[in-house]
Amino acid sequence: MFKMKRIAIFASGSGTNAENIARIFNNGSRINVSLVLTNRRNAGVIARMEPLGVETIYVPNSVWDNEPEKIVEILHNHNIDIVVLAGFMHYVATQIIAAYEGRILNIHPSLLPAYGGKGMYGHYVHEAVVAARETESGVTVHIVTDEMDKGEIIMQEKVTVTPEDTPRTLEEKIHPVEYSLYPRAIVKLVERLDSATLPPRIPSDVNQETAVAPEPTEKTEEGTDKRLQDEWAEALSVPSPAETLTPPIPEDAATPQNPCQTQAPHIPAQPLEQPVTPGATNAQCQPTEPMPPSYFVWAVVLTLACCLIPGIIAIIYSSQVSTKYYVGDIEGAKRSSRMTEIWLIITIVAGIVFSALYLPLSLLVK
Ligand code: GAR
Repeated sequence: MFKMKRIAIFASGSGTNAENIARIFNNGSRINVSLVLTNRRNAGVIARMEPLGVETIYVPNSVWDNEPEKIVEILHNHNIDIVVLAGFMHYVATQIIAAYEGRILNIHPSLLPAYGGKGMYGHYVHEAVVAARETESGVTVHIVTDEMDKGEIIMQEKVTVTPEDTPRTLEEKIHPVEYSLYPRAIVKLVERLDSATLPPRIPSDVNQETAVAPEPTEKTEEGTDKRLQDEWAEALSVPSPAETLTPPIPEDAATPQNPCQTQAPHIPAQPLEQPVTPGATNAQCQPTEPMPPSYFVWAVVLTLACCLIPGIIAIIYSSQVSTKYYVGDIEGAKRSSRMTEIWLIITIVAGIVFSALYLPLSLLVK
């Protein structure tokens, strides 16, 4: 079993990403947001962390600039394993990056390397993207290095930009993607760190030179190996990466399965790395057998019978209205008119009811 990873979040602003990350992970036992450091005394993130019980420390910019070793000390004192920048609008000193090399993540609201670098943060990014009439933007999670916005990309997801988009509407599209992508990227980094601590697995038929570092796996109830990343994402209700949505290839690949009979893939509530094509699932799930003709016949017979008979009665009553009126039976004409109305209503209701009962009736007939 792997040691729980303790996360420190650096944030300067509203802190919606920080809150989302803490809410997702702090209910589980694998990852914990243990500390938030902010360089703004009144940053919104402080109030967001309070009800979650996450310790927040305000560190003035002078310390970030001139005494970064103090920040490293705070991180070490809190046994922090990973640092996550979530809207942190300040330079991260080399000493901090060196102390947590490969273990600092940043989220950026564009498809890096596009719209990254100096001056590109928050709404400035969206303004630049809209001004350039881009048709797509997105979210990137990357490792923080000394070069701003240039570290290894861990995960990226696209967002469509329409001609009607403003910087604000684009931001509104980007934020939910961030909430989905960042926790998954954190899990991916944790998985990578854990796998680095494992001894390499040497398959029996491969010699030591060609052995590759293993992916940490656990046995599922069915006895099959399962990637930790997927399992954690599942346990923590983090939407799974798009690649994990691909249904597993059946062992007996020669016997194709009916996709309608397999369990539907878990589709995250939040947008995915790859957009889900509307209707794609339905298109795969066409019934393999034609419906027996008896269903159709019964449906038609019942609907006709139940609409036709009251319909005919309504017509008879309606024909009596004028007859009675011309012979001077005004009361009788009124009565027939009322009966016509009633039977017309019955006709309509019966039509609707029996059309709706088509499926249950057809099942009964079966
Ligand atoms: C997020 O959109 C994040 O991508 C961006 O700041 C916002 C913070 O929002 N970060 C950058 O621009 C970094 N260059 P939040 O405070 O609500 O999480």
